[in-house]
Amino acid sequence: MSGAASADTLPRLNVPAPVAWASISSRRTWSSRGFSPRVKVCNRKHHRPPPPPPPPPPPRVLQADASHLPFATQSFDIVFCRLVLNYVPVRETLGEFARVLVPGGRLVLAFGTFREGVDFLRRAKWRGNVRTVGWRVFGLLNTILLQTTGVQARLRAGGRMYAVHTPTWPTPAWMARELRRHGFVPPPDGFYAHARPVVFHAIRDGAARPR
Ligand SMILES: C[S@@+](CC[C@H](N)C(=O)[O-])C[C@H]1O[C@@H](n2cnc3c(N)ncnc32)[C@H](O)[C@@H]1O
Repeated sequence: MSGAASADTLPRLNVPAPVAWASISSRRTWSSRGFSPRVKVCNRKHHRPPPPPPPPPPPRVLQADASHLPFATQSFDIVFCRLVLNYVPVRETLGEFARVLVPGGRLVLAFGTFREGVDFLRRAKWRGNVRTVGWRVFGLLNTILLQTTGVQARLRAGGRMYAVHTPTWPTPAWMARELRRHGFVPPPDGFYAHARPVVFHAIRDGAARPR
């Protein structure tokens, strides 16, 4: 309503006094204190809806080593990691996820498991496929090494994704223990968000410290 539509207009609208009023014009909206929801005066002809909020800034995209993330501590609410943990130093990477998440932040982690690695070997045609099969065998042996001794072997060779290769296919039980070690706790219904392929959902515990 234009500026003329103020308290003097109200008697004509048959609104009992004392009354709260609102005047909505094309430029400004006024309201008295204690605005009553019973009274809403609006001249639709001159009313323009507020401008839409500005679009959010585009996401920043960075390429980095997952085990050395170039982000500040406690700078993310959610970390989503799909099928990368099988190719990186697991403990360092989980430590980085714990570091960059705020307390209460969520980690969504999809990873290939030991059983999937073994199933792949059972089905794989070894002839003409030696490189891939060798990669899996190395990954499975490396997993046993990691899960029994804490040591993760690394090969230096160019050609496949990164210069350092350290594949593992951890068991879900070991991964659950590692997550707790790095300061994650399961949601009320447990770490498993999906069984096969395995997807874990973990919550960054505010009290625990990353190791
Ligand atoms: C199987 S692909 C998965 C790609 C994608 N996340 C997906 O779900 O389709 C494995 C990915 O791990 C990435 N990767 C390997 N080593 C890495 C490292 N040290 N740091 C970050 N990413 C790495 C590779 O670049 C590759 O994109």
